[in-house]
Amino acid sequence: MEPGCLEGLPAYLKSNKAENILLVSDEGVSGTDWFGRLRLKIEGQVTVVSNIPPNPPSTEIDRLTAESRSKGYDLVLAIGGGSVLDAGKAVAMLLNNEGSIVDFEGKNKFPNGSIPFVAVPTTCGTGSEVTWVAVVTVPEISSKISIKGDGMFPLAAFVDADVLVSLPPHLIASTGMDAVTHALEALIGRPANPASDALALQSMRLLIRHLGPCVRNPDRQEHRKAVIHASTIAGMAFGNADVGAVHCLSESIGGLLNHPHGLLNTLLLVPVLRFQLDHIRDRLRMVSAFLGAPRPESLLDRLDTMVTGFPLKKWADLEINPDQFEQIALMAEANGSNPSNLKEMRASDYLSILRAL
Ligand SMILES: [Fe+2]
Repeated sequence: MEPGCLEGLPAYLKSNKAENILLVSDEGVSGTDWFGRLRLKIEGQVTVVSNIPPNPPSTEIDRLTAESRSKGYDLVLAIGGGSVLDAGKAVAMLLNNEGSIVDFEGKNKFPNGSIPFVAVPTTCGTGSEVTWVAVVTVPEISSKISIKGDGMFPLAAFVDADVLVSLPPHLIASTGMDAVTHALEALIGRPANPASDALALQSMRLLIRHLGPCVRNPDRQEHRKAVIHASTIAGMAFGNADVGAVHCLSESIGGLLNHPHGLLNTLLLVPVLRFQLDHIRDRLRMVSAFLGAPRPESLLDRLDTMVTGFPLKKWADLEINPDQFEQIALMAEANGSNPSNLKEMRASDYLSILRAL
């Protein structure tokens, strides 16, 4: 997890006897200088696929897997944000299992564990580098599904703060707020437990102190380091608990309209928590006390101020047609994480939130 740890990746791959590697990434990341330098060091060992789209469609996962089955890859290496990591994780699982990714929706539905999968996050929000889940979009139903299981954990994660140097400030802000959402939803949800609390509180401490400064000044390594570490720790937190209503809504909107996951969580987090406040007040009081905020309301105000100051689109800029609110609300209620909310959330509750935005 130290800055510069990516330098150790070629030796790690060698020590794991990975000689025929599928490297997945996206166009933004694969165009950076550091990616070019890394690629030179593992040239000859890798086949590069650098066009993984955002909110990766199941059809694309199946197509890439079909192309890869006969290649005999011994490891999948994913270098990118959440979409790339989830796509790589899904392909690594499918390479050891016959079928389409949609056949394995749910928990532990696949018979064989993945082929070795190594994750290098290049944003500061996903947490996918330490979780057992991949989220993919099914185009036929314009909806996201989760595929998770014990056999899908990454073999290793290289969390290197220096890769954030090439990440634009608006992506540091929105992916960082995804990490804030992971930590807070882990803390306030039904499955919260002492282990997930410890991880999530430490993550929140780092994010509250360093995310704003990191967006304004990504050249400062101390901020980059704190924020990317917090993101990974928040991934561990929700991996040991769950996410909740914010993700239920953001995944519904993302599946339907393809808006970026981090941006949606950024815009939804405070409104959803305010809506649930009476039910989550005790949990939030514990969080605000830890962070030195006098009351849960002041913590939410602080987050609101932070979001307003970020160089991000507003809710109105997304131009979501109110005619779609009902469908979004129904999808949110059907989300697998909906039962993890302390407050029982029905479609009518989600609809109220959407109408008030
Ligand atoms: Fe998320």
